Amino acid sequence: MQAFRAAILRFADDRSAIYEEDGLLVIGPDAKGAQVVRAVGPWHQLRDDFPGVAVEHLPGRIIAPGFIDLHLHFPQTDVIGSPAEGLLPWLDNYTFPHESRFHEAAHAAEVAAFFMEELLRNGVTTALAFASSHPASVTAFFEEAERRRLRMICGKVLMDRHAPDGVRDDTEQGLIDSEALIRQWHGRGRLGYAITPRFAPSCTEAQLRGAGELAARHPDVWIQSHVAENRDEVRWARALFPAARSYLSVYADYGLMRERAVYAHCIHFDDDDRRLMRDTGAAAAVSPTSNLFLGSGFFDYEGARRIGFLHGLASDIGGGTSFSPFHTMLAAYYVGREGQSKPGVSLTPQQLWWQHTAGGAQALGLDGTRGRPSIGNLQPGCEGDFLVINPQATPLLARKTARAQSLDELLFSLIVLGDDRLIERTVIS
Ligand code: GUN
Ligand code: ZN
Repeated sequence: MQAFRAAILRFADDRSAIYEEDGLLVIGPDAKGAQVVRAVGPWHQLRDDFPGVAVEHLPGRIIAPGFIDLHLHFPQTDVIGSPAEGLLPWLDNYTFPHESRFHEAAHAAEVAAFFMEELLRNGVTTALAFASSHPASVTAFFEEAERRRLRMICGKVLMDRHAPDGVRDDTEQGLIDSEALIRQWHGRGRLGYAITPRFAPSCTEAQLRGAGELAARHPDVWIQSHVAENRDEVRWARALFPAARSYLSVYADYGLMRERAVYAHCIHFDDDDRRLMRDTGAAAAVSPTSNLFLGSGFFDYEGARRIGFLHGLASDIGGGTSFSPFHTMLAAYYVGREGQSKPGVSLTPQQLWWQHTAGGAQALGLDGTRGRPSIGNLQPGCEGDFLVINPQATPLLARKTARAQSLDELLFSLIVLGDDRLIERTVIS
């Protein structure tokens, strides 16, 4: 067992933050051998409960749960900051050419290693990631994650139409490759597989149907895709699927909406779409830096709150502009303020932080329910991936956080001024 003494941030079941100014976090194996939180609370209460366990004292530091990134593309690491009129020309001009190189195992491995290093430097310990359409890219990703003992989820892109040679797959072969990857990787150590139709416009009806059948055969795997991101994309999807009630309902029609299905963006929705999200248990990966960069629109936080469906935060690298959860949380704050409904929603720092940790875990079905692992929090029983945050990482952060009069002021200072410099250590238990 290992113990750490510092300030500790975690979340209660009602989503409010619990903050121990001087806390103790004890990590050790559970009955299955997973490294989990064995005890957490005030130092003065727990100090005598673990005789013989060495305590690492981290004065002035904050221990917090590792962040969860609900949606990003590892083959787009080098696409960040590529300007375009909007989503569709961005895909054609930058994204597909970059992704076409990921059939090369050596290239995929080099990018996967850089990508995971960058996630960890930024305090992200779990991500739901797209690979490219090449099975070799998934292999490279999982090999790297396994080497680092990370809890990571990934899938091969299904894309059998409206994409150039080099990234387009074959309808049947794409499905066969996906199932082989599920058998090889899903549930191996801390790894999980996601069935990954890129978005409805890039998949034939036959491929979407096959993806839904695959999902039915493997109820425990994840599903990931994009929906209702950009107005041109929505028009295109409607033209391609004229019988569907809406773009989102295409996925429901093919059996691709359920718990553990995560849809990126979810911007151009009506209330029937929101109810479909709620009733199926699917989750939205809100990707605010991407939506601002590509001019896609604003996620409607008020609508999500009113209807009530799962949602958490995501970087959407490479449409998104930063690996840093602090940048993503700040962008989400802006988006909430400027969202479709006026006067907008003023997300609190506790809500923003929850959406990037325990809320992300809930969206992934990794919140400890039904005997599944629990991540994104530091309550007893949660897997023990955590961050050591240095609130004095820059002169301005040191000055501002020293003046914080409340937990909200402290957290908001970190969100507004923070980046990778705040993350002193990322501990994978
Ligand atoms: N829609 C389909 N593919 C993509 C992608 O790679 N990035 C984003 N942001 N949207 C998409
Ligand atoms: Zn995306």
